Amino acid sequence: MRRDLILMSLPPTYTRVVFAERPVGDIVPHKTFRIEPEHKLADLEPGEKQVLVAVDYLSLDPAMLLWLNENPYREPVRIGDTMDAEGLGTIVKTGKDSKWKVGQTVKGGFGWTEYAQMDDGAVALHEVPQGGQLLDFLGPLGNIGMTAYFGLFEIGKPKPGETLVVSGAAGAVGSLVCQLGVLKGLKVYAIAGSDEKVQWLEKELGVTKAFNYKNKDVYDQLKEHMGTFDVFFDNVGGEMLEFMLTRMNLHARIVICGGMSDYNNPTPSGIKGHLNLISARALMQGFLFFDYASKFGPAVAEMQQWLSEGKLKRKYYIVDGVKSAPEALPMLFSGGNTGKLIVRVSNIREGVETKE
Ligand SMILES: NC(=O)c1ccc[n+]([C@@H]2O[C@H](COP(=O)([O-])OP(=O)(O)OC[C@H]3O[C@@H](n4cnc5c(N)ncnc54)[C@H](OP(=O)(O)O)[C@@H]3O)[C@@H](O)[C@H]2O)c1
Repeated sequence: MRRDLILMSLPPTYTRVVFAERPVGDIVPHKTFRIEPEHKLADLEPGEKQVLVAVDYLSLDPAMLLWLNENPYREPVRIGDTMDAEGLGTIVKTGKDSKWKVGQTVKGGFGWTEYAQMDDGAVALHEVPQGGQLLDFLGPLGNIGMTAYFGLFEIGKPKPGETLVVSGAAGAVGSLVCQLGVLKGLKVYAIAGSDEKVQWLEKELGVTKAFNYKNKDVYDQLKEHMGTFDVFFDNVGGEMLEFMLTRMNLHARIVICGGMSDYNNPTPSGIKGHLNLISARALMQGFLFFDYASKFGPAVAEMQQWLSEGKLKRKYYIVDGVKSAPEALPMLFSGGNTGKLIVRVSNIREGVETKE
C-alpha cells in the first residue's frame, strides 16, 4: 500500500485490551480483561528509532493462561498492561532514524492492541514465502511450527515405521506433529475432542487412525488399534498421559509439550504411573521451543519446502477484532478451534490472503 494512502487511513483513536484481574482457574473474559477503546493514536508517535505498527493478526496461545499468574518461565503480565501477544503487522509510521519503511510487514510482540509503538530492534521483517501465506509465520513457520518440529525430532527421535501417538492432535501444534509423523513414515495415531476433528485428521491429514477422547470406549479403542507406542507427543497431560504410561514399547519416548488439562487447574493432579518408565526403559522429557532458536533457520526452510510442495497442510481458525480476544482465548480450553487460533485485527494491508 502506498505511504500516503496508509497515512490518510490512520484513525484518530485505537482500541487495546488490558489485563484487569488475575484469574483463579478459568478466565472470566470481561473480568480478567478490560477493553479500552478511544486511546489517542497521537500518543503512539514513534521516537527516532521506533515505528508505529498497525496490527494485522495476533496469535492466541494456551500458554497465555500461564502468563497471567506466577509461572516457571516468564514474568507474569502486570495488571493494567496491554495483554501480551505475538503478531504480524504493517509499519504505518517511522521515526526519523528508523531502519524500517512504511508498508513493510513485521512480526513482533505487539499485544492485544490495534496499534503498537515498537523499537526498531523489537520487530523483524517477514516476507511471504513461495507457496505460503503471511499467517504461516504464526503457524508452521513460527513458534508453533518450531514446537512441533523440535519436540518431535529432537525429543521424540522417531525412526521410520515406529508408532507415534499425539494428543491435542487437531490443534495448532498437534496437527503439524501428526503430519510430520506421516511425512517421516510413522504410524500416526491422533487423539482429539470431536468426530469432525477425527474426520479431518484421518481424511485430510492422513493419520493412520484418529480417536475422539470424549467417547467412553476411547481407551479400549486405543488398545485395539494402536496397541502400544514408541513416541507419545503429549499436549494435554491428565488421564490420557496416565493411560499412555501403561502402553509403552521398550525405550519409548514421551514428549511433554503441554498440559491443556491442567493449565486452569489450581491444583494439578500429578501422575501415578511413572514407575512404568523403569521397566520400559522409557524417557519422558519436557522442552521449550525457544531453546532450539539457533537451529530455527534450517528447520523453517524445511517446513517451507514441505508447504510449497503441498505436503504440509494448515488450518487457521480466525476471529475478528481485537475486542474478541478475551472471549476467544477460552476456546483453546473448550476445543472450539481446529488448527491455529488467530485474531484478525485489521486489514490495512491489501492482498492479504487468508485460508480459513
Ligand atoms: N513446549 C513448548 O515450547 C510449547 C510451545 C507452544 C505450545 N505448547 C503447548 O502445546 C499445546 C498445544 O498448543 P496449541 O497452541 O497447539 O493449542 P491448540 O492445540 O490449538 O488448542 C488447544 C486444544 O487442546 C484441546 N484441549 C483443551 N483442553 C483439553 C483437555 N482438558 N483435554 C484434552 N484436550 C484438551 C482442545 O481440542 P480438543 O477438541 O481436542 O479437546 C483445544 O483445541 C499446549 O499445551 C501448549 O501450551 C508448548
